[in-house]
Amino acid sequence: MNNSPDSSRREFLKRTGTMAGAGSLAGLIAGCATEAKKPVAMAAAATAATALEPARAAHVAHTDTINVVLVGAGGRGTGAAANALNVKTGPIKLIGMADVFENRLKSSYEGLKGEFKDKVDVPEERRFVDFDGYKKAIDLLTPGKDIAIFATPPAFRWVHYKYAIEKGINVFMEKPVTVDGPTSRRMFELNVKAKEKGIKVGVGLMCRHCRVRGELFDRVRNGEAGDIIAMRCYRMHGPVASGFSQKRPEGRSELLWQIERFHSFLWASGGAFNDYYIHNIDESCWIKNDWPVTAQASGGRHYRGDNVDQNFDNYSVEYTFPDGSKLFHYGRIMPGCHDQFASYAHGSKGLAVISENGHAPSKARIYKGQEMKAENLVWRGPRNEPDPYQMEWEDLTDAIRNDKPYNEVERGVRASLVSSMGRMAAHTGQVITYDQMLNSDHEFAPGIENFKMDSAAPVLADASGRYPVPAPGLNKKREY
Ligand SMILES: NC(=O)c1ccc[n+]([C@@H]2O[C@H](COP(=O)([O-])OP(=O)(O)OC[C@H]3O[C@@H](n4cnc5c(N)ncnc54)[C@H](O)[C@@H]3O)[C@@H](O)[C@H]2O)c1
Repeated sequence: MNNSPDSSRREFLKRTGTMAGAGSLAGLIAGCATEAKKPVAMAAAATAATALEPARAAHVAHTDTINVVLVGAGGRGTGAAANALNVKTGPIKLIGMADVFENRLKSSYEGLKGEFKDKVDVPEERRFVDFDGYKKAIDLLTPGKDIAIFATPPAFRWVHYKYAIEKGINVFMEKPVTVDGPTSRRMFELNVKAKEKGIKVGVGLMCRHCRVRGELFDRVRNGEAGDIIAMRCYRMHGPVASGFSQKRPEGRSELLWQIERFHSFLWASGGAFNDYYIHNIDESCWIKNDWPVTAQASGGRHYRGDNVDQNFDNYSVEYTFPDGSKLFHYGRIMPGCHDQFASYAHGSKGLAVISENGHAPSKARIYKGQEMKAENLVWRGPRNEPDPYQMEWEDLTDAIRNDKPYNEVERGVRASLVSSMGRMAAHTGQVITYDQMLNSDHEFAPGIENFKMDSAAPVLADASGRYPVPAPGLNKKREY
């Protein structure tokens, strides 16, 4: 076995990337590569300024160390922590971690420690393995200065955010931020308090921090593609992450098994729909500069075999904006079919490519007319695009250090609600409006704030081990 530092670093990146998906891996690799090139003196200066600091006023000097804790130390959480530790805005340090699985926390800690050395200062007593570990981790932080990273499945987002707001702690939370109507309303309400307190909050819809998509947004606003009439986006590939699940193994805790396989359960993640599709839906709405008001959709389960999860294999959604223009979203999780991962906006004058092959690089460009022919190219972004996973961290920490208003929660909730609206339209077979989704009374995981290791799971299997699946046309008011 090769135990060289290089081989363990490669292993760490591979493991983290496998868990986090290609996008996070790209972010993590970019971040780690930057870290490796950092001059020793600079790394040492960052390390010297890393003691836990006393509370201070809102202004965080550029020499102050921002302390970070990680809640949800899985693939993306580890990637987000790596992005945090790579920021260029000033010294930063990871000082606490929480997870519900000891092995997840351990491998995340070891990977980050191996990569970032003294920037990771998380002794045993600051590693918390329990559902209330987030409180103990947040309690380590200084209000107005430090940041809690929330990268658990999204069902827990509002619970963790509520406590961070009470404590005045800045937050970076991964997408999606909600999966149903009641918790979306709760997040909107909570966020009013966060804004009153001036808490800075980033939401992991990192494509919004992509500089090239940002230029595309400006160009579309300037009319270079004309009026946007129709948009289409695609996320079609084979099974990834935990979207397909076989029966729960004998003896495994039902709750912990569902949390581990959260893409399979609507309460935990909004299913594959919310988790996978939100980025393409959100970046399309960004370029349109509006949110859709209705959705109709279809979808179904085709080749599920022995899988017992709640997802459909494919989803086709027609979203309608207030001006009558459309966004068509195509999602498919099926091997052996055409794969596509892209978003396009068709305007009265031309076609805007929002993203073409995953999240980064975006390969954004504008063509005149509706055909992507070289001779029609009007503009293309630079080929060397900064990593949006890193940019979202530069932007958040810059806002903290320079005390700029910074709160992405409202638009994060809207993107989550619009995703849920498309999912609910497919799952019920009905036209669903934004207001219906927002005002829906179906809370998928009531009581989640009191979960303990031995709590009952929010959804139970039938005698054959299968979980309730949506039945469009039969169940018209609730998804399951
Ligand atoms: N922005 C992106 O491109 C991107 C990419 C991947 C994942 N994500 C998001 O990040 C989140 C996590 O996804 P992941 O792929 O890292 O999953 P993961 O399973 O690898 O990590 C989730 C971690 O959270 C832990 N956890 C679950 N419930 C917890 C709780 N109540 N308290 C503490 N820890 C808890 C799990 O044990 C696990 O270690 C999801 O919301 C996902 O959508 C975003």
